Amino acid sequence: MRTRMIAGNWKMNTTLSEATNLAESLTSISSPETEVVIFPPFISLGTVQNTVKNSQIKLGAQTIHHEPKGAYTGEISGPMLKSVGCDYVLIGHSERRQYFHEDNALLNQKIRAAISHQLIPILCVGESLAERENNITLDVIKTQILEALAAIPYTNMVIAYEPVWAIGTGKVASPEQAQEVHAFIRKILSDHYDKMSAEKIRILYGGSVTPQNSHSLFEKPDIDGALVGGASLSAESFINIIQTHS
Ligand code: PGA
Repeated sequence: MRTRMIAGNWKMNTTLSEATNLAESLTSISSPETEVVIFPPFISLGTVQNTVKNSQIKLGAQTIHHEPKGAYTGEISGPMLKSVGCDYVLIGHSERRQYFHEDNALLNQKIRAAISHQLIPILCVGESLAERENNITLDVIKTQILEALAAIPYTNMVIAYEPVWAIGTGKVASPEQAQEVHAFIRKILSDHYDKMSAEKIRILYGGSVTPQNSHSLFEKPDIDGALVGGASLSAESFINIIQTHS
């Protein structure tokens, strides 16, 4: 049985005081059957760690540099993320792929870096609108997963399926569209690793998740939770998503 995960990706939103206030308003969450992880901007991680330390909220980072330290101005490494209490790290969010030109080979290095510093990677994959319209969604997803996970034997990871056309657009994938891709991802993981490992890996859906659509998504057998962007910036809507019953 996979524990549901609800992850809140704050992206480049919230100043330090806004981040602290938002984190504070999540500390009362008591949802033992759901793992809750938030991804504040780097500069707020240390303070937010202090705010959530006596709650069930876990911390993650939005990206990682693949080297542990060195002359990489502006970058943040695995040991730094560990030192502020991160357990998870997003790898290959579509905004990183699109605006920062991160390709699958680089993501493979980032996943290795995460693993070597005891951070659990959440690998994000997803097709663009043009790719969906050209009926190559499953090919795109397969390539993204197999290249990012090439020669990585470790299976303590999470996958997030986020169709690019659904991110921040209000256009959520239908539960059937998402389930089709999630089941396909589990099959790829089963072939790449083994069936038992694939059954354990959580696959989150992301892209315009709200309290209104979370229930029908979570009813699907291979949707193990959500990676939430916009709706995670309001404590009320994020908590409502966490409290979704399926
Ligand atoms: P959204 O973002 O919920 O605002 O669509 C999701 C994401 O980018 O992770």
